[in-house]
Amino acid sequence: MKIAISPTVLLLANLFFSDASAFVERTWPEAFTLADRTVAQMTTAEKLGVIRGRGQFNSRCVGDTNAVPRLGIPSICLQDGPAGVRLTKGVTGFPTGINAASTFSRRLMKARGVALGEEFRGKGVNVHLGPGLDIMRNPKMGRAWESAGPDPYLTGEFAYETTLGIQSTGVQACAKHAIANNQEHWRYGLSADIPDERTSREIYWYPFERAVEAGLTSVMCAYNRVNQTSSCRNEDVIGNTGILRKDLGFKGWIVSDWGATHDSATDHANAGMDMEQPGDWILIGGGVYSPGLEWALNDGSVTNSTVNQLVSRILAGFYKLGQETGFPPPNFNVQRADGPLNLNVVVRTPAHVALSKEIASASAVLLKTTTSGSSATVTRGLPVDIAKVKTVAIIGQDARMPKRDCDPMGKCNEGTMSVGWGSGTNSLEFIIPPEDAIKSFVGTKAAITTSTTMDINNAVNAARGKDVAFVFVNAMSGELLFYDVVHGNQGDRNDLALWWKGGSLVEAVAAVNPNTIVVVHSVGPVSLTWSNHANITGIIYAGAPGEQTGPSIVDVLFGEYNPRGRLPFSIADTEAAYGTSIVYGMDGFPTITYSEKLLLDYRYMDSINHTPRFPFGFGLSYTTFAYSAFSVAQTSSNGGIVISFTVHNSGGRTGTEIPQVYLGYPASAGEPKMVLRGFEEVLDLGAGASRAVSIAIARRELSIFQSGKGWVRPTGTFTVYVGASIKDIRLQGTIAL
Ligand SMILES: *[C@@H]1O[C@H](CO)[C@@H](O)[C@H](O)[C@H]1NC(C)=O
Ligand SMILES: *[C@@H]1O[C@H](CO)[C@@H](O)[C@H](O)[C@H]1NC(C)=O
Ligand SMILES: *[C@@H]1O[C@H](CO)[C@@H](O)[C@H](O)[C@H]1NC(C)=O
Repeated sequence: MKIAISPTVLLLANLFFSDASAFVERTWPEAFTLADRTVAQMTTAEKLGVIRGRGQFNSRCVGDTNAVPRLGIPSICLQDGPAGVRLTKGVTGFPTGINAASTFSRRLMKARGVALGEEFRGKGVNVHLGPGLDIMRNPKMGRAWESAGPDPYLTGEFAYETTLGIQSTGVQACAKHAIANNQEHWRYGLSADIPDERTSREIYWYPFERAVEAGLTSVMCAYNRVNQTSSCRNEDVIGNTGILRKDLGFKGWIVSDWGATHDSATDHANAGMDMEQPGDWILIGGGVYSPGLEWALNDGSVTNSTVNQLVSRILAGFYKLGQETGFPPPNFNVQRADGPLNLNVVVRTPAHVALSKEIASASAVLLKTTTSGSSATVTRGLPVDIAKVKTVAIIGQDARMPKRDCDPMGKCNEGTMSVGWGSGTNSLEFIIPPEDAIKSFVGTKAAITTSTTMDINNAVNAARGKDVAFVFVNAMSGELLFYDVVHGNQGDRNDLALWWKGGSLVEAVAAVNPNTIVVVHSVGPVSLTWSNHANITGIIYAGAPGEQTGPSIVDVLFGEYNPRGRLPFSIADTEAAYGTSIVYGMDGFPTITYSEKLLLDYRYMDSINHTPRFPFGFGLSYTTFAYSAFSVAQTSSNGGIVISFTVHNSGGRTGTEIPQVYLGYPASAGEPKMVLRGFEEVLDLGAGASRAVSIAIARRELSIFQSGKGWVRPTGTFTVYVGASIKDIRLQGTIAL
């Protein structure tokens, strides 16, 4: 029986079925039983249709598979990107991964994952192409803002919570990129050579290991080569006896990054690459399975049983999350934004907007504030008491409405920077820039002067004599696609400087205004050499906060929200302090040896006794916290330890503290001096109140990775540090294990 369904009915059906509460997650064995049963009924053509994308011009999503309607298998829709549904309308522009990391809040990381999942499901997307788990090996790394920074433990927590959140809605997460996808220049062929298994597992694979523990159903293999072999046909990376499947126990399927396939279908299929996207040749590569997989089957170099395994794994992910019943079909079309197939179902909800704003505020890191005491007529520093301010200047291009939809990849930085460019860019449909949000908050309570052209003389004139001058500056980076350049940067940033001479702008304003408050929107560490200037009374590092950038920063600036964000990386003055580099100019694809091994970011800085301007984990509050009553003990059951202490709000207002645990290993372990191994969100602690905190560290997180042995907990004396940042240790003790 055939029923004609009107678009309205379809719309209602979509809304009804997008209720994720209906779905029940299956175990892997249950999912594989169903998958194998389906595979047994499929023809070879049907199997190949699921393995190979439908092609760049035939897909409704950024990647689709071919449906097998007679067996109830729809076209599986894969869509960017890690911070919101890309290339469609009616969605939320969520805060980026690096901002989620900045919250140091598992609660918010998970909630963000759930909200993302709800929007992807509502749009009919089976597979969310995220989370991004690429470690920020170098601070200028172009796509680092899609992931969670240089620290593997923090990235691991982000990986776990985000994956749980997304998949709790029945949408598959696709962790990316396996592996060592750490710069944009030359990414289509560079070789990241990881010198030893310990570095490989402790730094680059650890976040994937955590995502697998959360039930991850899919992984994207990277453009780059690893140890000289292309990731998507590298058995060590994706094979049945490779790291991901054998060592990490990943059961799901692996899809190529778009066009990350080269040479033969045989190599890729036998290595274990389950799905090729978008399916055809896209100038940088691709198209090895179409028609190469048929040929390989015909000449016997790929067997039926291998093909069955690829299909089975793809379908197992689909069945694991119950996508065969009640999952809405896509209701948008990336090829034709306003075409007839585009129902423009609005999946953005007030709750998602509120969450985005909360995460954006929670990820804003207060780097500096100078207070002038209660007797002052004009408050200096933060928060700004609007009752004591009569004149306000808003300065900097980064304050104003960005150029929206400048291109589908977001490749422009004009106006405020809330997300980087490339496939991880976000919808700016509903963005509220800082200028608009400040104007709406201030209303008629003070006179506002704006200067958002980046003309320094104009800015100085606007700032002079005003009670407060807000200066907004930024730096941006993104994904390198076809050698496109944004303001001279090809994906990776060229340097750590603010864009559009932002540093000069800040210094020029500070020279004339004694209450200069700077907001930095950036994709990663930037040089803030002017931070000690006496007239700069407040600095907030706000990252790349998504569409609620304006309202979220207003809440922090004017004291509605007490800042609690923490730096997920160190901010040093120069790149030399980070100990790694981006390889730019080359004559052919470079080999990049990760000779720094475990020493990224603060781990390297500690090794050379360098104190950065703002350390890892740093972030101030409008109140203060005291730590006491430290103890550490072994847990009887799992070989872990538990650390207990008390946090007291010693200041004048409710605030959230993020105590962090760093471990110092026995010297024989060969670990960096201090490594992050725990953190907690002490949420909304009232002025004068105290709260007991306990942080458990499991055996694996006390362990180091030893080749041939796996995770081994070293023997000896561990030092346990508890602090408000890596350079602000408040309590410490030792424990012999
Ligand atoms: C790369 O080579 C190193 C050294 O042989 C090895 O330990 C590692 O497992 C290899 N592969 C990956 C993905 O790191
Ligand atoms: C592989 O499967 C196809 C389709 O079922 C069949 O025609 C073919 O004979 C099989 N090949 C081998 C080598 O078993
Ligand atoms: C701070 O601002 C005042 C103007 O109020 C200016 O006279 C002074 O030179 C500035 N200080 C510095 C260090 O630039």
